Amino acid sequence: MAKEPELRNLDWQTFQEMSTSEKGEYFTVNDKPHHVLNAQQFTRPQLDRLCELATKTRTISKTREGALFIQDLLCEKRAMLYFSQPSSRTFLSFYAACQIVGLKPAEVRDTSTSSELKGESPEDSVRTFSSYFDVIIMRHPKGGFADRIAWMLSQTERAIPVINAGSGKDQHPTQALLDIYTLHRSFDQAGGIENRDIAFVGDLARGRTVRSLAQLLTLYPGGKQYFVAPDSLQIGDDILNILDQAGVEHEVTGDFKSTIPKVDAVYMTRIQDEWDKAHESKDIDTSGFKFTAAHLDLLRDDAIIMHPLPRRDEIAPDVDKDPRAMYWRQVRNGMWVRAALLLSIFERDRDIDAYFDSLQ
Ligand code: CP
Repeated sequence: MAKEPELRNLDWQTFQEMSTSEKGEYFTVNDKPHHVLNAQQFTRPQLDRLCELATKTRTISKTREGALFIQDLLCEKRAMLYFSQPSSRTFLSFYAACQIVGLKPAEVRDTSTSSELKGESPEDSVRTFSSYFDVIIMRHPKGGFADRIAWMLSQTERAIPVINAGSGKDQHPTQALLDIYTLHRSFDQAGGIENRDIAFVGDLARGRTVRSLAQLLTLYPGGKQYFVAPDSLQIGDDILNILDQAGVEHEVTGDFKSTIPKVDAVYMTRIQDEWDKAHESKDIDTSGFKFTAAHLDLLRDDAIIMHPLPRRDEIAPDVDKDPRAMYWRQVRNGMWVRAALLLSIFERDRDIDAYFDSLQ
């Protein structure tokens, strides 16, 4: 097996100037994710493997004996969840995933209760965490900050894995993993994810989950991506250029209603007005980009509705009971795929295979 290049051999300037996809090979050890910093770092075999591992892990966990077996796998390790931006699902699903695999979690969620209040830099805070913990799972408002931390730690004697749980407006790679896992589970018995058309709807300019998933879907050929939004919230040209380079068909449109019957999955998103500079989102007419019960008749019987959550009013609550509404399952899938990711990072995935095989 070829040895992967090591992050510690790069100076910051060289690393910073690399493209996102070039950086990916520096985040891999033994062909498995070590750091998880962007969606483009994943290969198709790695995604297939994580989906398989997540399903095996959840199957084994159904019995007390199986759950105890998995909890033993990483019981000697500790995780720091450093979330300096609000989160419910990502934080709690990582917390629960840590519990599933036996990693002991600790948290800093409010930097005003840490020594950052005394003027300590976030870099020094994380370097301190690395002295106590074996993995750092972090959400930060600044795009690229998780990259910076992974590089910074690579220059120290505690080059522990860093997982990006959401950075600025640019990346949310583990949300993309759980979205892929949800698509995988939804279409596994019907030919898989390839050749599936998906519509992304809502705030596509600032929604990092859409940016990450749109890029990951380039690994599943044959599908078309629709970007459905008001002009001022449309997807960036950088993503469209990536799709062009990958040969992925796409369409940018403001016509939600006519797009619904064309696709296998509708991926709704909320307005991300936390990024507003002067409350500019309130002037955008988003009324035509909401999924109501009336739209269910337009949706194909075998199609699904997804949403990374949290939602506001872009999916009406009476849509929830439709069997094609997949967003609450996405929430649960997130916990299992994150458990699989932790097992893979710490190379305990073969133990899952062996235990799973023993059940057959
Ligand atoms: N989907 C998602 O990232 O949710 P949270 O912001 O609640 O973590």
